[in-house]
Amino acid sequence: MTPSYFPNILSLLPIFTVLVRSEVAISGEAVTTRFWDCCKPSCSWNNKGPLTTPVASCDKDDKRIANVNAGSGCGEGGSAYTCSNQQPWAVNDTFSYGFAGVNIVGRVEDFWCCGCYQLDFTSEPLKNKSMIIQASNTAYDIKTDNRFSLAIPGGNTTSHDACARQFGVDQNVFGQTNTGVGSIDDCENLPEQLQAGCRWRYDWLLDASYPSANFKRVACPVELTKITGCSRTDDKELGSNATSSATTIKSPTSPSMVATLSIILLASLRWVYR
Ligand SMILES: *[C@@H]1O[C@H](CO)[C@@H](O)[C@H](O)[C@H]1NC(C)=O
Ligand SMILES: *[C@@H]1O[C@H](CO)[C@@H](O)[C@H](O)[C@H]1NC(C)=O
Ligand SMILES: *[C@@H]1O[C@H](CO)[C@@H](O)[C@H](O)[C@H]1NC(C)=O
Ligand SMILES: *[C@@H]1O[C@H](CO)[C@@H](O)[C@H](O)[C@H]1NC(C)=O
Repeated sequence: MTPSYFPNILSLLPIFTVLVRSEVAISGEAVTTRFWDCCKPSCSWNNKGPLTTPVASCDKDDKRIANVNAGSGCGEGGSAYTCSNQQPWAVNDTFSYGFAGVNIVGRVEDFWCCGCYQLDFTSEPLKNKSMIIQASNTAYDIKTDNRFSLAIPGGNTTSHDACARQFGVDQNVFGQTNTGVGSIDDCENLPEQLQAGCRWRYDWLLDASYPSANFKRVACPVELTKITGCSRTDDKELGSNATSSATTIKSPTSPSMVATLSIILLASLRWVYR
């Protein structure tokens, strides 16, 4: 053990960098649910991860609220609600954008807030369809599964009456607890600015309940970040400048990267053991 040991340790550093990258480029299997509770999204508060600014929340007139500390219109009698434009839309028959409340097993929300995930649906009738969603919210009620609860107006009501307060309507127009509205025709009863997202559930999502999906973190497309105003500073570790709509990370380490690292590792071992 001579001073020559130090260069060897330094040469191992790139390997740790790669480990950090694969943390960011997470993927796996997930269940999906639906929600639209009108509450201030969880990622709209301060200190929810390495964010440029928190997710936009809105007042009753759908105007963005500047005060990040404004209370939620859900329960606490605050003035901040979900902005109506944080609803899904179809780009074509097989690809949509949207927003979701997320849970990734073993993680907490600063890991996912404002991150974007590609969901490739794996169950009928949605096979071959995929979405890119931005995590605007958190779904902590079931922690045993990776879960993406898709934000769909009228998709699922909760015990809160925040939607009634936000829009001055009867809470019933948002449908039944756990299922939401009963048919595409009921979308007409929703406030005007929420109807398109409600119909998306029938036209694009084919009214599927609990579809499963493979998920993977992708660099956020500007189509989503311009709506929430929120980006993650660790998005750049995903290796894209986030302008493309369907940029995906296939693998955190390219084959040539693995080859280079192996050579470095072998070289260092030879140095240690020579
Ligand atoms: C509606 O939300 C509740 C609470 O998160 C959840 O248990 C239920 O599965 C959801 N329903 C659907 C159809 O996603
Ligand atoms: C749907 O849109 C996505 C994203 O723009 C694109 O990658 C894909 O090729 C399109 N699919 C069809 C069938 O047009
Ligand atoms: C899914 O896509 C594959 C390959 O593009 C195609 O062969 C298959 O017919 C598609 N399935 C459905 C149900 O559209
Ligand atoms: C970043 O965006 C520019 C211009 O849109 C493009 O030319 C460049 O290839 C992009 N870089 C990466 C790493 O995606």
